[in-house]
Amino acid sequence: MTDFKKGLEGIIALETEISYIDGVKGILEYRGYRIEQLAELSFDAVIHLLLYGKLPDLEELDHFSNMVKQRRDLDVRTREVIHFYNFNIEAMDALMTAFAHMSHSDPDLNINSPEANIRKALRLISKAPTIVAYYQRIHEGKEIITPNELLPHCSNFLYMLRGKIPTVLEAKILNVDFILSAEHELNASTFAVRVTASTLSDIHSAIISGIGTLKGVLHGGARLAVMNMLDEIGVVKNTEKYIMNLIKNKQRIMGFGHRVYKVIDPRANIFRDLAKKLGEEKNNMKWYDMAVKIEEVVTRELVEKQGKTIYMNVDFYSGVIYKYLDLPPKLATAIFALGRITGWLAHALEQYKDNRLIRPRAKYIGEHHDPKEKI
Ligand code: CMC
Repeated sequence: MTDFKKGLEGIIALETEISYIDGVKGILEYRGYRIEQLAELSFDAVIHLLLYGKLPDLEELDHFSNMVKQRRDLDVRTREVIHFYNFNIEAMDALMTAFAHMSHSDPDLNINSPEANIRKALRLISKAPTIVAYYQRIHEGKEIITPNELLPHCSNFLYMLRGKIPTVLEAKILNVDFILSAEHELNASTFAVRVTASTLSDIHSAIISGIGTLKGVLHGGARLAVMNMLDEIGVVKNTEKYIMNLIKNKQRIMGFGHRVYKVIDPRANIFRDLAKKLGEEKNNMKWYDMAVKIEEVVTRELVEKQGKTIYMNVDFYSGVIYKYLDLPPKLATAIFALGRITGWLAHALEQYKDNRLIRPRAKYIGEHHDPKEKI
């Protein structure tokens, strides 16, 4: 048997054409394109790139966007059942349950051909924001707001959630958030998706595995933890003391550290600039200033003094952006999933295309009893 690596660190588990990371240079590419360039596009164009392997031309993009728009609303049964959900849960659990419901009434139920899987993928991507928005509106005791076909994917999500059309900057920033959240090679949730797909289970089940895995605080749940940390700090002048206390008690600072990046996560640099712009538009620099201070203390204490490679990751300034967008905290991880679902689907499709069951080994460290012993 080959060497054991706790947490599978550094293990190459499969080949992919979907994304590339250089954790030392801080490079991330989707299908060979740098994320800094992709962040200038529409989320629909990036969905097309991830699912079909190529950027759409204008005509293809228009056609594709219309297909996504037409599939946004939920069937009556899925819509009805949201009323019975427990509203003390995170929206991630609502998303997981609604996807399970949707799978029962999917027109391609029990058909797992490549064509059917693409159709299912489009339904899941199109309907996911509607589930999260409906869940929140129903929870608040408000009327649901049905999708607006005139609005692009991310603006429509904010519109269904708040009942008013977002500002140009808000829509642009959420569009970037969805793009930068969409894909990240073999992170824990994508691995979970591929493991499920590798058993030739259906694509809904694969995506549900991803949702359950993204929810954890060491993964997508860190975004919510960042929002909670900012709230707990309360005012900028408390930041230094708060972070020093975490460090003294050897607690983790949420939104920092990464298994692959040994430098600043390139997505975090983009989010930092956007968080500043949002703060300026809203005439409220509090969350941005607090975040800059956290970054300063972590860099000074953990990187410079202790020599650790603990830099900010994607979840840090994304959490700050969610504060500025006034997004309900319990939606935070689900909103991450609204972007990441695209990467999960691309990976599930890639897995089905050239499948081999993913089944690693474990090193047994327990006892061996004498088989002749009476038990
Ligand atoms: N704050 C303080 N110390 C940290 C942190 C942190 N955020 N992250 C890692 N360390 C320390 C850790 O205590 C350990 O120190 P020592 O060697 O002295 O025991 C060392 O760095 C290595 O930690 P590790 O747990 O072996 O590293 P890992 O590669 O298994 O963990 C991680 C990666 C992301 C789970 C971890 O950095 C972490 O817990 N970060 C906070 C949660 C977070 O922001 N998660 C989002 C991850 S990125 C996006 C995503 O996937 O959603």
